Order: sequence, then structure tokens, then C-alpha cells
Amino acid sequence: MNRTRQTDFGTPASPATDTVSIEIDGLPATVKAGTSILRAARESGVDIPKLCATDSLKPFGSCRLCLVEIEGRPGYPASCTTPVEDGMKIRTQTEALARLRRNVMELYISDHPLDCLTCSANGDCELQDMAGAVGLREVRYGFDGSNHLDATVDASNPYFQFDASKCIVCSRCVRACDEVQGTFALTIEGRGFESHVSAGIGEDFLDSECVSCGACVQACPTATLMEKSIVEDGLPDHKVVTTCAYCGVGCSFQAEMKGDQVVRMTPWKDGMANHGHSCVKGRFAWGYATHRDRVLKPMIREKTSDPWREVEWSEAIEFTAQRFREIQHQYGRKSIGGITSSRCTNEEVFVVQKLVRAAFGNNNVDTCARVCHSPTGYGLKTTLGTSAGTQPFDSVMDADVIMVIGANPTAGHPVFASQIKRRLRQGAQLVVIDPREIGLVRSPHIAAAHHLALRPGTNVPIVNALAHVVVSEGLADEEYVRERCDLDSWEAWKTMILRPENSPEEVAKVSGVDAEEIRAAARLYGRARNGAIYYGLGVTEHSQGSTMVMGMANLAMATGNLGRSGVGVNPLRGQNNVQGSCDMGSFPHELAGYRHISGEEVRTQFEQHWGVTIDPEPGFRIPNMFDAACAGEFKAIYIQGEDVAQSDPDTTHVEAALSAMECIVVQDLFLNETSKFAHVFLPGTSFLEKNGTFINAERRINRVRKVMEPQQGKDEWLITQELAQAMGYDMNYSNAAEIMDEIAELTPTFNNVSFDFLDEVGSVQWPCNDNAPMGTPIMHVDAFVRGKGLFVETEYEPTEERTSRKFPLLLTTGRILSQYNVGAQTRRTANNVWYGEDLLEVHPADAEARGIKDGMLVSLASRKGDITLRAKITTRVKPGVVYTTFHNPETGANVVTTEYSDWATECPEYKVTAVQIAPATHRSKWQEGFDARAEEQERLAETD
Ligand code: SF4
Ligand code: SF4
Ligand code: SF4
Ligand code: FES
Repeated sequence: MNRTRQTDFGTPASPATDTVSIEIDGLPATVKAGTSILRAARESGVDIPKLCATDSLKPFGSCRLCLVEIEGRPGYPASCTTPVEDGMKIRTQTEALARLRRNVMELYISDHPLDCLTCSANGDCELQDMAGAVGLREVRYGFDGSNHLDATVDASNPYFQFDASKCIVCSRCVRACDEVQGTFALTIEGRGFESHVSAGIGEDFLDSECVSCGACVQACPTATLMEKSIVEDGLPDHKVVTTCAYCGVGCSFQAEMKGDQVVRMTPWKDGMANHGHSCVKGRFAWGYATHRDRVLKPMIREKTSDPWREVEWSEAIEFTAQRFREIQHQYGRKSIGGITSSRCTNEEVFVVQKLVRAAFGNNNVDTCARVCHSPTGYGLKTTLGTSAGTQPFDSVMDADVIMVIGANPTAGHPVFASQIKRRLRQGAQLVVIDPREIGLVRSPHIAAAHHLALRPGTNVPIVNALAHVVVSEGLADEEYVRERCDLDSWEAWKTMILRPENSPEEVAKVSGVDAEEIRAAARLYGRARNGAIYYGLGVTEHSQGSTMVMGMANLAMATGNLGRSGVGVNPLRGQNNVQGSCDMGSFPHELAGYRHISGEEVRTQFEQHWGVTIDPEPGFRIPNMFDAACAGEFKAIYIQGEDVAQSDPDTTHVEAALSAMECIVVQDLFLNETSKFAHVFLPGTSFLEKNGTFINAERRINRVRKVMEPQQGKDEWLITQELAQAMGYDMNYSNAAEIMDEIAELTPTFNNVSFDFLDEVGSVQWPCNDNAPMGTPIMHVDAFVRGKGLFVETEYEPTEERTSRKFPLLLTTGRILSQYNVGAQTRRTANNVWYGEDLLEVHPADAEARGIKDGMLVSLASRKGDITLRAKITTRVKPGVVYTTFHNPETGANVVTTEYSDWATECPEYKVTAVQIAPATHRSKWQEGFDARAEEQERLAETD
């Protein structure tokens, strides 16, 4: 018997709140009105056979296996498509029903391979189960007639196969692709006996529109669509529920295990962020965790020109502690620091910031969120009072107008994108504000009402113009503002926003967006019953990132779109634990829960708990650390799971800073660009080897559970603890749960959180404390956290990065679906089949003017440096704009990005760089240097 399959109620739960009373096989039952008979029976413990129904899809009624008898009604209705009615008396097991079901199964089985014993789904096949359930023992028709038993297997997708000989044409896969994923890649072609599932017209899965989300595989009741890992390794024998370690959606998965090996990751239906859906990364791209490149022994070296030397943990930790102590002795307490990682658990992040504050004795700790969502923290805290998004993902199902700004959900947050698409198919309207035509602008059955394809760097004028229209055309919710907001700030803001330079007509000149299009978008949002804003790094990674975040909060407050379901201002967090790493106090000026380090009361609380004195002065931010390193004042750094040499802007400057330091400690899974400058490498653990928590974009605290022991022999929090101890600070946890207990004790928004509590309730959104014992799905319900909502004047200060005759184009960057961030994980999976190298998107007009053809090698030059990469000619970008990704270190996309950053938080301005492009014949000088360094490091990695 399969022990990993999740309960399937056959049809979705009814949204009704009223109930009806029925009788099933003589037993009384009370279920929600609108529930199907099939589901009502299952909820009451009665299993009616089924094949075409599954509870993630609307009922379809094609297989005729779920027939029942209803007292007083003729015939045998399908229970999946028949809703219950009060007083209904249903019989699910009669002789007539048994006969009918056996007949149906007989027809299916007569055209199905009889290889159950050797089939990879043996024991995990609904068809097999149903044949047993209906008592089918023989097939009267024989197996010699026309059949599909010779149909071929499509194994083109790297992760799953399609064996057409096993298909019963139940259409669950097609409906999953349509209803759950929203890609519409599959169809049933042909009629009657000829009907078959098809991925595109005569295409295989790999060449089709399929985005490899796995929803069809999940839905298939037979072995037709099957994970290759199961075909190769067999079915799992146990499961552990955990959380995806890729993006900020935070999908829950069952890690399905055979012994200590993962054989499949299946999205968990009870996961509140994903409700059983997944994307290609979380579902399939987990193989990096056991990739041969994993470093499993600690390594040290005196100089970066020395070969790495594998050592025991104790030696690596003592070596590090001694170097850090010597450096502090020579250069002062503040000459060392640390960077925490948004890939790591809250518990791992918390101990690193504690190491810096308690053992290093300074506040030189920052997190990689510095380079992505730090403006979110600043902007939302200033206007609303909390450094976090306002809604649960499910809230989007109540939105009438969805505004997506500077985000590309189908690539960056795919599972949430599917939910957005579902809402759009139900009739909600979409406004996209992005320089590039992202996937949501136009896809099957979806079209944005307005796409404001603005010139990169002009978000602030656009949001000001939207607000201008809202205020000048009387679309503001004055009553809401009077009740909920600071009226002085409202009046001052209104005066600013009504100034002529904020009118759509003036902003059109700056942004390149037609004034009427701006007006129409503003009216749509301003008139919406519920308008919801979702945004990403296309908002924050600008020199006005914080201004734009506040601009969106202003707009939402002015229209009354905060504090209930269907509205809000929501950052789509890039990495799995960006929210958590910020919450944990890993900013140089804040302790856990965003409390300023200068606050004596808060500091005292931590000091008493930790038994140390905490420096009241904020420490260095990441860019300050690099500047100080170049100035000879910052000498050593402990970097937890971040590849700053690849991911941070202005690579040449970062490399100079790293080269200037005397001790760099990298804690990661793989050697990376930063480790080329490192003296100590402490091997980290993958998410499969950790106990802890991640916090997703909706503030949801999800459990991460260890499914296998750390491959390098040590929990990551323990590495940090041992380093603290070696430096003389007695950090003393015995497990990750104790770290969460301390976080909960010291952080008011986490007071009620513990591993036991999360294991009991599944997940919870902070704040979770005595005021909100079960967490807080929606923020700012009756009042803003800061009291009155604060309107902040958002004057537009253009970036100093300008186009010129020499650099006439604007480069903007982003990601694609199959790769993730710097690619350390996804480049070590079969995802490379979809995107093996970073490409430069160029509009045909710009390409033609420069003699650039599709696929040609081009040089991309900015004031900072130049690289070469291959061109992709596309109208997704406008003339004057080029776009690339930064997934491959050898591309060096950040060699060209600039030192400009957000005025409030120093979040780098990745999204606007003035560039020129030209045909190229060879790799750039930086890239040649990269190749030489890579060769050298490979040689040095061959340890003694
Ligand atoms: S592939 Fe699976 S889900 Fe799709 S029609 Fe065939 S049996 Fe049904
Ligand atoms: S994997 Fe996803 S996108 Fe591809 S066909 Fe299946 S459901 Fe559609
Ligand atoms: S949407 Fe994000 S969290 Fe969910 S499976 Fe994909 S990468 Fe993982
Ligand atoms: S399960 Fe009801 S008709 Fe197929």
C-alpha cells in the first residue's frame, strides 16, 4: 500500500457556509451546501470509485465510475457532478452499481497494458486501485481488438515522461494544465477511439508551451505521466512535509523518500501558500542537493593563491576564530562583520547576527535583502508601520483589479502567478507596469487591460501620475482617509501630487507611456471595489526604490485599498526567506522585529538574555563594508550562503573589496565566485538537511524539516555556534527549536511561535502573539500598525545614471522561470535544458541599427565595464531598452551595473544602466580574466 498519497476528496470543497443533511448508505451526514455527492461521501468515510475526478479540479463527469443511486430519482447519476440536496438519500453500493462500474472498468482495462507488476506506478495507481475496488477479475472482451498498447513514450521532458499506452483519456492532465497552472499546453485531440492527449500540435512536451510545473503529472491517475525519478528509483516508502527553498512563495512539499534518498517532491495540498501546486524549481530541481560539486569537508588556506586544504571541523573553526581575533586585535573591534543569507532558515540567520553582536562585539551584520527588498522594509514601515506585505496570497481571489509593478510572477513566483491567472480568468482586470512585456501581459485566456511599458527608472513619476488622476478626478476614498490616515500628511501629499509635473501628460514625456493609458489605468484601479498591488525588484532596485514603495502605499491609502481581503500592497519576495532574514534582526541598525539598535529598552532585553553588552551604534551595511575594505578599515567577513562576487553590483569594486580583506569565510554548498577570494570554506547544508523555519512573502512561517542528515556532518546553526564559542562567547543551543524559542521570547511579533505550535497548526502568519494567537493573515485591518497611515511626499529625483551618445540604451535585468538567482542550485540540475546561458534581449529596431542578428555574440558595455553575451531579438522589450538575466557567473552581468543605489537603504540600482551594444567576436577582458581565475581555482581546489 502506498503511504505517500495525499487524501483526495474527488471534487473541490464547497465555498458555502450553510449545511445540508443527507443520508449516505443509511448513515446520516451533514455537509456544506453545494458539495458533490462524491465529496460528501468521502468526507463521511465512504469511498465511491472514481477516475476522472480529483479535488484540485472542477468535476468533469466523463468516466462514469462514480455512479450512485438517489432515492426518488431515476437512473444512476454521476456523484462527482451531482451536488447534495437537503434530505437526499444516497446509495453508493448496490448490485446494479457494482455491475455498471465493473463494465466501465472492463472497457478501460481491455485497452491497458497488463504489466502492473513491473509498472513503476504499481501500488500508486488509481486505475489499479479502482479495478480492485470494483472487483474486476476478468476482461470479457479479450485484449486482441484495436488498442493503444503500442503507443510511444515521450521522454523529452527531463523530469517526467508520457507513456501514451497507459492513458485512459480522463483529461485530468489537460484540466490541471488549464485550471491549476493556467498554461493551456495540453489538449485532447481526435474523437472517440482516436482521442489522445497532445502537448501542442505534433510537438513533444519539451518543445511545447509546457512549463514543467508538474500539475498534470500530479493529476494523472495512471502511470501515463510519471516522474522519471520514480521510474528509475521506484516508489517512496515514507514522506516528510517541508518547504521549498527557492522563491518567496514558500510552497509546501512532501519530500517522498526511499530510505535516505529523495525520490520525488510532491506539492502538499494543505500548504497554505500553494494548495498543492508547484513550479518546475520546487517540484523537480532538487537534485543539486546531492550534486557531486557539493563541498563536504571544511577547507582552509593561508592565502588565496594557496591550494585549499581539507581539515576537520575543529581545525577550520579554530583557524577562523584565531584569524578573526587577531584581526580585531590589530585593526579594532569593528574591522570584522558578517552577512546573513535569505536562503537559510530563520534559526541559522538569527545565530549569525547573534555571533556578530555578541561574539564580534559590533553591529556589522547585514543581509542579502540589502540588495533586493530593503526599500520595502523602509517604505512600508514609514507609511503603514510594518516592514512586510499586507495580505495572504489567497486574498488575490477577492481582488477586482490587480496591479503588477516591476515583477514577473510567471517567472519569479510561478505558483502565485497561477493563482493570479485564475482570478483573471474569473474576470478580474490586470494592469502591468513594467518596461518589458512580461508573461502576464498576454497569455492564453488572459490579457492585461493596460500595460504601461515605462522607461526604466520612471516608476515614481508613473505612480505619482496614477495618484494625480485618482485625486484630481475624485476617485480618492476621502472617508477612508479621514478615518484611517494622518490628515496633515494627506493634505501636504495632495498638494504635491496635484502639481502639474505629476499630471499624466507631463509624466508621459518622462516615462514614454501614453497619458491616456496612464489615465485609464488609474481610473481602473481607483474605481475598483478591491484593488491589489503586487510588486517586485523592478520597484525596489532603483535609486528611488524606497520612494516608489511609499508611492504605492500612498496610492493604496488614498483609494482605501488596505486592511481587508482583495486589496493591499504586497512585495513578491525573491528568495525563500527574504522576509525572515529581515525579521531576524540581521540589519546593522535593527534587532529582531525591526527594533532600532539605539533603543535602550530593547537592547537591555537582548543584553540580559545574551549576557553581553550590545553596541548602540549601527554597524556597516554591505556596501559600506566593501567601501571600508577598500579603504583598509574592514578586514574580515563571515558570509553565510551568499555569492556577493556574483550577485552584488559593480563586480570590479566588489572584487577589489574582497581582495583587500585578510580573512574571508564562506559558508555555502558549493565553491562559488566569492570563495575564490576566501580563506576558509565551511560547507553548508541544503534545505533537505535542515530543521527550522522559512517566512514567505505573506509573512507565513513555514516549517522546514530535515529529511536527511547533513551531508557534511554538521547542522549549520551549530557551525556558527561553535565559531562563537571558539571566539569566547558561550552560545549554547542543543537544537534549532531552542533557537526559535529564543526568537519568540525576544520578538513581540513571534511570541507564540514554536516548532511544536507550527507542527500542530501547519503554518502561521506573523504577528502571532497573545493579541493574535493564530497569526495575522491581513495587516492593518482596523487601524494601521503605526496608528494613522502616513502619506509621504514622493518627489521624483531621477537617477544619476543617464543615457548619452556613447551609452544610448538602458539595460534592465530580471530572471527566468527555470533558473534561480545566481544559478548555484538550478545550474546543477536538468533545468539547464531550458536556459543554459544568459541572453540579451534586444528590440529588432535596435538590433538592425547595429547589425545584430538573433543568436549573435554582442558586446554589452557600460561606464563600469563590458561583457559579451548572445543576443535574442524580441519585441518584448521596447526600442531603447535591453534586458538580461544574471544566472550564470561566466556572463558577469553585474560587471556592467553601477554603484548607484536607493537613497534610503542603499539597495543597488540593478534595473537601470546606460549601455551600448555592438557585434562582438570574442569574450570580454573581464570574462577572459574570469576564465583564467576559474581554471586557477579548479587547480587549487584539488586539495593536498
Ligand atoms: S495522461 Fe493521465 S491524466 Fe491525462 S488523460 Fe491520460 S490518464 Fe488521464
Ligand atoms: S507540466 Fe504543467 S505546464 Fe506542462 S503540461 Fe503539465 S500542467 Fe501543463
Ligand atoms: S513557486 Fe517558488 S516556492 Fe513554489 S515551488 Fe516554485 S520556486 Fe518553490
Ligand atoms: S469520477 Fe465521476 S464521472 Fe469520473
